[in-house]
Amino acid sequence: MRLSLSFVLGLVAAAFAQSNVTSYISTETPLAKAGVLANIGPDGSLSSGAKSGIVIASPSTVNPDYLYTWTRDSSLTFKALIDQFVSGEDDTLGPLIDDFTSAQAIIQQIDNPSGSVSTGGLGEPKFNIDETAFTGAWGRPQRDGPALRATAIMTYATYLYNSGNTTYVTDTLWPIIELDLNYVATYWNESTFDLWEEVDSSSFFTTAVQHRALREGITFANLIGETSDVSNWETQADDLLCFLQSYWNPTDLYMTANTGGGRSGKDANTVLASIHTFDPEAGCDDVTFQPCSDKALSNLKVYVDSFRSIYTINSGISSDAAVATGRYPEDSYYNGNPWFLTTLAAAEQLYDALIVWNAQGSLNVTSTSLAFFQQFDSSVTAGTYASGSDEFTTLTSAIQTFADGFVEIIAKYTPSNGSLSEQYSKSDGSELSAYDLTWSFAAALTAFEARAGNTYGSWGAANLTTSCSGGSSGSTVAVTFTVNYDTVWGENLYITGSVSELSDWSTSSALIMSAADYPTWSITVDLPASTTIQYKYITIYDGTVTWEDDPNNEITTPASGSVTQADSWH
Ligand SMILES: *[C@@H]1O[C@H](CO)[C@@H](O)[C@H](O)[C@H]1NC(C)=O
Ligand SMILES: *[C@@H]1O[C@H](CO)[C@@H](O)[C@H](O)[C@H]1NC(C)=O
Ligand SMILES: *[C@@H]1O[C@H](CO)[C@@H](O)[C@H](O)[C@H]1NC(C)=O
Ligand SMILES: *[C@@H]1O[C@H](CO)[C@@H](O)[C@H](O)[C@H]1NC(C)=O
Ligand SMILES: *[C@@H]1O[C@H](CO)[C@@H](O)[C@H](O)[C@H]1NC(C)=O
Ligand SMILES: *[C@@H]1O[C@H](CO)[C@@H](O)[C@H](O)[C@H]1NC(C)=O
Repeated sequence: MRLSLSFVLGLVAAAFAQSNVTSYISTETPLAKAGVLANIGPDGSLSSGAKSGIVIASPSTVNPDYLYTWTRDSSLTFKALIDQFVSGEDDTLGPLIDDFTSAQAIIQQIDNPSGSVSTGGLGEPKFNIDETAFTGAWGRPQRDGPALRATAIMTYATYLYNSGNTTYVTDTLWPIIELDLNYVATYWNESTFDLWEEVDSSSFFTTAVQHRALREGITFANLIGETSDVSNWETQADDLLCFLQSYWNPTDLYMTANTGGGRSGKDANTVLASIHTFDPEAGCDDVTFQPCSDKALSNLKVYVDSFRSIYTINSGISSDAAVATGRYPEDSYYNGNPWFLTTLAAAEQLYDALIVWNAQGSLNVTSTSLAFFQQFDSSVTAGTYASGSDEFTTLTSAIQTFADGFVEIIAKYTPSNGSLSEQYSKSDGSELSAYDLTWSFAAALTAFEARAGNTYGSWGAANLTTSCSGGSSGSTVAVTFTVNYDTVWGENLYITGSVSELSDWSTSSALIMSAADYPTWSITVDLPASTTIQYKYITIYDGTVTWEDDPNNEITTPASGSVTQADSWH
């Protein structure tokens, strides 16, 4: 066998790049882990008086002041720690995780500018680190927080439950989880500030993590036998999955990050959504935007390319190689720079994709993902390439190199003490904005885990399909009916009414309501939009049906969105 000189040089360069990446990862992993732990109260070395289990965003108190706790950052960070704990990678983390769940139980109950625990307060994005409300002006609410918190805690609770610790799960963790998931189910169809706290509209990341949380909530509730919310969560999850599809830009082949904001919509929001809803059992499913799906790969290319020409440190880098990436190309915060956690997210998505292609033993190139794959082989065409074929080998090794390239960029701009700030300068790569950002460290840990091939369980993304009524026209609206009623043991409340969704006045197939907040009974039903509907509540006890008195209740549904109808029994 004769090897050309350029082939040999290529091998040498690849080996160098690999060793650069692996040596960086072995140095940075313990530093990043220590960086996370330093930022958790009360004992973290930089946690500056944070209460037990409270995660500070950064120790920085000026330019910018990030000495607060955000539900999003805390939950993503603890998801990474919980994954390490339940997988046995680090069995020392249990007490810290218990501190976190206890702190969140307190945070949930704090009255704050978004409301109380029962009136929308769970959507409050940030709190003071002494567990009091932050009352200054802010972009609120941010509705991803409860979903991310529920996902993190359910991962832990599932592990405990399956280890036989059922009482603690049902008595202590389930109430926290149920509050968060009922918040998601109730409010997902109302506007939210995005994860960057700037745009008030609907946001892809938020919708994606809300959908994930409800799906795992259904599985979790069934596991522990707490099923009263399940049918509502199923309804809302199906609607969320339909809504998720609507962000796709079919002309330019990327996910538009926000429905508002007046920007291109090219945004790390979508890449973060893909890695934080990765389900290793869901293949390359594009309905849930899996990392190796054709949509997510095309989206990644569009996102990455949007930074090639706007950062000085990216100049001279070839168009098929990794570059420094930021939140979104129009960003002007600190003059608009790359972020550690967004550049790492690009690497992580590709590592996740490689895990699935290697596990499935093939990869698909479709018309949607063709431009992504042609970066690595300009002659590739749409088709299925099995492992062992030259094309599979060429593409996966080029994509591994591409992914490692993002880590190499991070390596290049990491100071020797391993500190990761929020941003690094677009002109010279020096660290900018908040130092020792907890989320930057957590993003390094999860990207490195993905590179090592580690995965952490399914959330039920496999084999989901959408059955969206009326496409994106929103021809149904979610109506939540609530009514107070004192029942006797064994007696249940139902609703029935004048449309098929309310069983056409049937008593035998009337819809049973949830008593999760007894004596308030509730149910959420998708009803035709802009329609006047009559209905009544009934009770059934020992087979005996009792109707409300006349007249019928009546509601005229709005054209879109969701609505709550609070009734009293008459
Ligand atoms: C490896 O890292 C060193 C130091 O950061 C850098 O100068 C060199 O170009 C890197 N090598 C490759 C092949 O990327
Ligand atoms: C269940 O887990 C909690 C949280 O770690 C712990 O405090 C409790 O002692 C455990 N109970 C049992 C029976 O193991
Ligand atoms: C609510 O859902 C409908 C139907 O999917 C959608 O058209 C609308 O944009 C959503 N609104 C918000 C604020 O999520
Ligand atoms: C490739 O596409 C086929 C047909 O749609 C599908 O069955 C298979 O799961 C896909 N494989 C991957 C790795 O995406
Ligand atoms: C780490 O190094 C950076 C850059 O030299 C410096 O700004 C920072 O203070 C250092 N952090 C610690 C904890 O020493
Ligand atoms: C998804 O469906 C396929 C085909 O029916 C089946 O082989 C696979 O086990 C399912 N996956 C999961 C996780 O349910």
